[in-house]
Amino acid sequence: MPRPLTCEISIAAMRHNLDRVRQYFNTVRNAPVGVWSVVKANAYGHGLDNALEAFASSDGLALVEVDYAEKLRRSGWQKPILLLEGPFDLSDVEAARGLDFSLVIHRGEQFAWLKQTMVIPNSAGSIPGDLEIWLKFNTGMNRLGFTEADVEMVRSQLSNLSALGVRSIGLVTHFANSDVAANQGSGSMVTVDEQMERFTAIWASLKKTVPQLRVSLSNSSAILGYQHLYDGLYQSEGGFPWLRPGVMLYGGTPYDDLAANSPKHLGLLPAMALRAKILSVQAIAEGDAIGYGSRFVAKQAMRVGIVAVGYADGYPRHAPDGTPVWVAGKRTKLVGRVSMDMIVIDITDLDTVGVDSEVELWGGNLPIDEVAQACGTIGYELMCAVAPRVTRVSIDEPLSCDRV
Ligand SMILES: Cc1ncc(COP(=O)(O)O)c(C=O)c1O
Repeated sequence: MPRPLTCEISIAAMRHNLDRVRQYFNTVRNAPVGVWSVVKANAYGHGLDNALEAFASSDGLALVEVDYAEKLRRSGWQKPILLLEGPFDLSDVEAARGLDFSLVIHRGEQFAWLKQTMVIPNSAGSIPGDLEIWLKFNTGMNRLGFTEADVEMVRSQLSNLSALGVRSIGLVTHFANSDVAANQGSGSMVTVDEQMERFTAIWASLKKTVPQLRVSLSNSSAILGYQHLYDGLYQSEGGFPWLRPGVMLYGGTPYDDLAANSPKHLGLLPAMALRAKILSVQAIAEGDAIGYGSRFVAKQAMRVGIVAVGYADGYPRHAPDGTPVWVAGKRTKLVGRVSMDMIVIDITDLDTVGVDSEVELWGGNLPIDEVAQACGTIGYELMCAVAPRVTRVSIDEPLSCDRV
């Protein structure tokens, strides 16, 4: 018998969340928009095959793993695929030319690879295909990207597009604090407005060289909170802007403030439920300690359930005592340290709960973001961390929810 632990993925919820992306944008702009569904990290742990089905209507898929991008093409995805970290070496550019991947270009050496792959005959002896590139500018995140000081160097590279083998060019940046409301950042935080000011100056300058310059700015929090970013950038030659939603597609919130910005408030549906069963029940006497390190000591007699999930499955080892879990229509809590394959939960007041009772670690009843917050992390991390050994089950309906 397989271990009683499954990760249920709702394709219907993912599809619904993609629709919400377009609704958020369209209610404000009522203008066309391209959507790159971000599917890196195995679609935030939801599985590439599920993403292909759920996000069939998106305009492109964006990820960082070249081998997964190849898998998407082999699976029949014909629309654009964007490599968000760009090519890691020359061979990635060759792969991109063969499979028509769009490439983020964020450092000078990558221009050299573009040129080299135009002169190296490819293995099939055919002419290398022209690529779509997205120039990434660092406007304040200080992670990847050219800076304002590189604009002239970039412009000179763009002077001969046929030597680069490039058919279309976009401009992309990433916000450091779009999950923070415009007036709530602290002193050292670079704001969306500040990043936009730098971005707009770079855009205006490069547009003189490339009139048909596309733009891509928004992750989930920018889509949800900053819908007017494109107002000054709309231009017929460059076509519509491209959004890059990630976590919201999977029903997670990009915000810390769960009271005001829970997925439910945002109209998003959870797409992942991690469920396990109780393997054993123990009676614990007052003063007894539970698990490794005897972290939890019972203040009174308790009944506890031993649940078939642990850190080797992706349940966070640093989950503290009190982390919420859901069983038999009620919330209860984790007691004691998370082991590799097991956790222990308090079922003292849950008479109907025993061996084989199903426990939801997160899902339709218990939002992943709440569990993440209890563990001092974010829903993103929990989604991505579900281990390969956990059986994934896909359904085409919303996740079940017995919350009363
Ligand atoms: C460049 C880029 N764009 C978009 C996203 C999607 O972000 P989110 O999941 O917050 O929507 C990410 C995710 O980290 C990213 O790195």
